[in-house]
Amino acid sequence: MPKEFHAEVKIWSQIKHEILRRYLRLFISKLAGAAKQYSNSQGGRIYYVDGFAGQGKYEDGREGSAYLAADLAANAPGSMAGVLQCINVEADPDTFANLEKHTSPFVTLGCVQNIHDEFEVALDQIIKIIGGNIAFFFIDPLGAKGTGLPQLEKIGAKQRGKTEVLLRFDDIRISRTIGNIVGLEARQDERSHKAAQTLTTLVKGMADEKIIAAALKDGKIDRQELLNAFIRLVVKEKKLFRFGLSYPITNPLTEGHHYFLVHFCNHADGYIHMAHFMAWAERSVKKQIHDQAQSLFQTEVQSEIPFIVDAVQQNTAKQNVDTIVEALPMILSSLKGRAGLQLRNVYAAIVDRFQWKYIRREWEAAIKEGMARGQIRTDGKLSADSAPIILS
Ligand SMILES: C[S@@+](CC[C@H](N)C(=O)[O-])C[C@H]1O[C@@H](n2cnc3c(N)ncnc32)[C@H](O)[C@@H]1O
Repeated sequence: MPKEFHAEVKIWSQIKHEILRRYLRLFISKLAGAAKQYSNSQGGRIYYVDGFAGQGKYEDGREGSAYLAADLAANAPGSMAGVLQCINVEADPDTFANLEKHTSPFVTLGCVQNIHDEFEVALDQIIKIIGGNIAFFFIDPLGAKGTGLPQLEKIGAKQRGKTEVLLRFDDIRISRTIGNIVGLEARQDERSHKAAQTLTTLVKGMADEKIIAAALKDGKIDRQELLNAFIRLVVKEKKLFRFGLSYPITNPLTEGHHYFLVHFCNHADGYIHMAHFMAWAERSVKKQIHDQAQSLFQTEVQSEIPFIVDAVQQNTAKQNVDTIVEALPMILSSLKGRAGLQLRNVYAAIVDRFQWKYIRREWEAAIKEGMARGQIRTDGKLSADSAPIILS
């Protein structure tokens, strides 16, 4: 693999891992206390379930999802210590052997358990292990397996309020599977028909029937439409989770699309914090690329770049805040008449409108402007999500 390509692969898998690492840390810090109260009879734990775990560490030293969660479980400070329990599932025998090797110190410590099986098969057993505790599922397959309705129904049905899911929505492979079904059906022999039926069952849980039927008709599907249909199915139709948020993982150098990360949760705080981390990841990766590109320039050119970039970043932030301010009257009107409004509800309404595009600092600046314009009032601090809000 050429050196540049290797660095590039590292960057985009880093986006996924950074979002996971940051969010998981916050999830534990916010819920460690609740875990002890909420499920003390069950041991007061928070479970991290890595359904498609991989090998934990990669040849180039990168930490995979299973390793970064295990590290957090073993080394979490203060009140977060000893709360996180990790369950990893990996189906491939060689990858599983590596996973066992890389996580063995954590297994010895008692904070990690590895299961050699298919996630879909192991899920019932895992749900029993979790019992009444809080859980965060990370489901990271290549293809449609593991992220369809049968699994999400089982996960969403237990502990509705406190269970969250982050998953890879692999639209490219899902679309390819739909194309394969169309190809198999066209062959018109019994074997191909059976294979097509198995694949159809797999993709049917990924969107509503209408979308899949339309896709199966001509083998084509729009990626955004497929993703929206999936989130709509889980949130609006099946009501498995209250909030669904997606973020496209792209190649930062070419902007080529890889897949979507999708987050499902039931609490506004999960929704807004995840949106912030996604926006943060998007920008920090861009900065990382800039830094890499910068190191290729001569010293003379280099000295010009920080100034230019600073100016661009400041402008962008101002422009971002202005965009939110402009939309604020409409965003606030969607909240009118709701009792007991808190700042978290306003932030969630901003995320409804703009998804992961803006960071929290920009939401706060826009609300300050809204206060100056007399559109919204609060006596609390803008950093306190529970601050009561009055709309004018
Ligand atoms: C994309 S990789 C996981 C990467 C890992 N989550 C990370 O971020 O470091 C997908 C993994 O799932 C495994 N796998 C494939 N089918 C599976 C199944 N049905 N159940 C569990 N693991 C499976 C593959 O062997 C592979 O190691």
